[in-house]
Amino acid sequence: MPTHPLSRLVGIGAILGIAASVAACKEPPRREPPPAPVASALAPSTVALAGDAAHGKTLIAELQCNRCHDGTDAAPAPQNKHCVHCHADIVGGKFKASAALLSKWKPVVEDLTDAPSLTSAGKRLTRTFVRSYLAKPHDVRPGLSQSMPRLALSATQIDDLTAYLVPEESAAPSVTGDLEAGRRVIESKGCITCHAMTGVPGLVASAIPVPVTRDELLHGKRLAPDLRYVRERQTSAQTAAWLVDPKAIKADSAMPKIPLTDNERRDVVAFLHSRTLDPKVVVTPPTRLPLLTRKVTFAEVDKRVFHRTCWHCHSEPDYAIGDGGPGNSGGFGFKPRGLNLSDYAGIAAGFLNDKNDRESIFNAGADGVPRLVTALLARHAEEAGADTGPVRGMPLGYAPVAMEDIQLVDSWIAQGRPR
Ligand code: HEC
Ligand code: HEC
Ligand code: HEC
Ligand code: HEC
Repeated sequence: MPTHPLSRLVGIGAILGIAASVAACKEPPRREPPPAPVASALAPSTVALAGDAAHGKTLIAELQCNRCHDGTDAAPAPQNKHCVHCHADIVGGKFKASAALLSKWKPVVEDLTDAPSLTSAGKRLTRTFVRSYLAKPHDVRPGLSQSMPRLALSATQIDDLTAYLVPEESAAPSVTGDLEAGRRVIESKGCITCHAMTGVPGLVASAIPVPVTRDELLHGKRLAPDLRYVRERQTSAQTAAWLVDPKAIKADSAMPKIPLTDNERRDVVAFLHSRTLDPKVVVTPPTRLPLLTRKVTFAEVDKRVFHRTCWHCHSEPDYAIGDGGPGNSGGFGFKPRGLNLSDYAGIAAGFLNDKNDRESIFNAGADGVPRLVTALLARHAEEAGADTGPVRGMPLGYAPVAMEDIQLVDSWIAQGRPR
């Protein structure tokens, strides 16, 4: 049986697995919301908060947010479980492996080395944003290939996580300024070198007026949010504070401090928060390609799809020290689905449905499309911003599988799944 190249180095269970004890996050009974604060002249600026922050803190570890996000009270998952650090260490030469393996892996993981830290989320994100984002994440950072996965969080979990991440929200007065002047500042101070602002056509990029290292620029471009969303993510007072000195708000931020006068800052904030935005470009998700008439082998689909991408979360629990990753043994708050995509037998054995019965991933839905193909197409639909309802796009949170490769899988299934 082929083994994962990493299993020889660190043990794949330790790589992609998680302890069974944290897989099933038991939901506590819904608690009464805290009493609304009494309106008083002494506490005019704090908004009533729902959710249990202490429980939210424990959820970060239970739901394994710390396998992707740093900057919470939960220590980052160890390198051999961390979905970002391990890739970063491979690219940064800190991973112990042969030179041959490292050079094979580097190009594959190059784009998977960044996720935003959640450091001081409460100072730069509103509760409304965090709550709605956890329920329905969307692409915020155009330079980042990985997305926030659509997790199966309950309303209570979302409230508790939000209360933890944004412990208080103040109703500071909003900032106003001159929109056209704001545009000129954004265009002359290097903002567009890192940031996009979709919905505002024709913004010009310029050199960043302060020294930035090569690394800062690389990570800055990946992690810079599309400024279109600032008005949904921050209050204008938060944006103004951010622009004074990003690292004072978030020490590990990849945004440099760019000196602005008070007026310039006000004008930039006004532009970001009030400039009319063109409607979001509606992307139509690609449709299923016709089946191939040529013969498709398992070796081909395995190489291009299952063993390339899927088995990083759906691996073989036997040689994985009882743990086959989030898509098999459970993780990120998902129940164990028992789906092993690392070999033919595992793929044929299917997954555990909500009733805990084994179900084939090849079963056709009402539309005649095999479940597996539906899941692969759904990832394209999610990327296009479409609501895929109960169908979760695969690979969960990662770049969609190319349409030609989905066509290959589709054709292989139609041909009776030859070995
Ligand atoms: C598999 C990796 C992964 C896991 C697990 C994960 N996230 Fe994320 N998350 C991301 C990525 C990547 C982004 C940034 C996406 C973007 O900006 O387009 C993100 C974005 C976010 C954001 C928005 C932050 C910002 O500055 O834009 C919040 C809040 C967040 N995640 C919270 C959580 C919580 C809470 C959990 C656990 C319940 C969690 N995430 C689990 C990868 C992950
Ligand atoms: C111990 C190090 C390590 C850890 C931990 C790790 N990975 Fe990886 N990952 C790799 C290596 C090495 C590759 C490239 C493998 C190859 O090319 O054969 C890779 C590749 C991938 C790919 C394939 C990208 C593509 O081109 O299709 C995905 C997706 C992925 N990892 C996701 C994850 C997720 C999700 C986690 C956390 C659950 C994770 N990784 C944790 C080392 C790791
Ligand atoms: C070197 C790249 C870089 C440059 C140049 C840059 N930024 Fe940023 N900016 C970032 C990154 C990265 C973040 C995300 C912060 C984080 O999570 O670390 C960010 C965050 C922000 C935010 C918070 C947005 C949000 O949705 O969270 C605002 C507002 C912002 N930048 C505005 C600007 C403006 C205005 C300029 C020009 C004066 C500018 N940036 C220049 C990289 C950059
Ligand atoms: C980042 C981790 C991750 C990656 C990468 C991933 N999966 Fe999954 N997958 C999961 C999780 C978690 C579940 C369980 C989801 C649930 O319980 O709703 C799952 C469930 C599934 C299911 C079954 C459930 C259903 O509702 O249909 C299929 C089929 C599936 N994955 C296919 C794939 C394929 C094919 C790939 C590679 C293209 C892939 N997955 C890559 C994490 C992942």
